[in-house]
Amino acid sequence: MVVLPQRAELPLPHIHSLPRHVAIIMDGNGRWARARGLSRNDGHRAGAEALRSVIERFAEHGVEAVTLFAFSTENWGRPRSEVDGIMRLAARVIDRELNTFHESGIQLQHLGDLAALPKGLQSRVAKAVRRTQQNTGMTVNLAFNYGGRADIVEAVRHLVAAGVRPEDVTEAAISSHLTTAALPDPDLLIRTGGERRISNFLVWQAAYSEYYFTPVQWPDFGAAEVDEALLEFSRRRRRFGLVPEDVGTDA
Ligand code: IPE
Ligand code: IPE
Ligand code: MG
Repeated sequence: MVVLPQRAELPLPHIHSLPRHVAIIMDGNGRWARARGLSRNDGHRAGAEALRSVIERFAEHGVEAVTLFAFSTENWGRPRSEVDGIMRLAARVIDRELNTFHESGIQLQHLGDLAALPKGLQSRVAKAVRRTQQNTGMTVNLAFNYGGRADIVEAVRHLVAAGVRPEDVTEAAISSHLTTAALPDPDLLIRTGGERRISNFLVWQAAYSEYYFTPVQWPDFGAAEVDEALLEFSRRRRRFGLVPEDVGTDA
């Protein structure tokens, strides 16, 4: 009988350039469920199961921050039963996973409008952020009730309210008022589920991200898929509008 190694014992592939910050649009739960004759909420539950191994794998690689798009400002328009199901699921996932994340040194952050969420979820998110704030491991940002455009609107409102002069409205000033101010821009943006669009995720911050689209539905995305995405990233040549020599890449 062949004894398979535990997943955590699998050797890490050699990856020569790692993204500091990976952002993920976790898409495809509904289609995953439909293909199995299950409900959309079953799909979201299966999607939640995928979280732990994906987060662990990025941490094993030494990625500094992972941002997970779990609920968009547009997702409120889904049927009430689905929205309610996602809200309850988010609360359960925090209850179930918080200890493990905390023990792994993960720092949890929230991106988006917390105030519009059900009170029980608000307090759980706030507790998770508080409990893990001194941790020094990987940062996991939960983008829940997040919209890229709303983030920019809020940042501009702050600048206007502070009486900032037009000439001081700079890219750096806007960046520093976004909810992602403490993070480097995402180097790699992954979208599962086969669609090739940003769906109002980090529209400002992803200006120079490398995009990785995979047909794999989110509930099927695991450690092997993380490795594949990171390998693909390491093969990309980022130029930031310069000529290759300027950035020391493939001249
Ligand atoms: C992503 O999966 C989860 C959320 C947007 C909350 P979907 O629910 O969008 O799954 P598909 O795209 O319908 O398959
Ligand atoms: C984007 O997926 C939002 C999340 C994954 C949370 P959607 O399924 O909502 O996006 P569209 O509708 O395909 O653009
Ligand atoms: Mg979708």
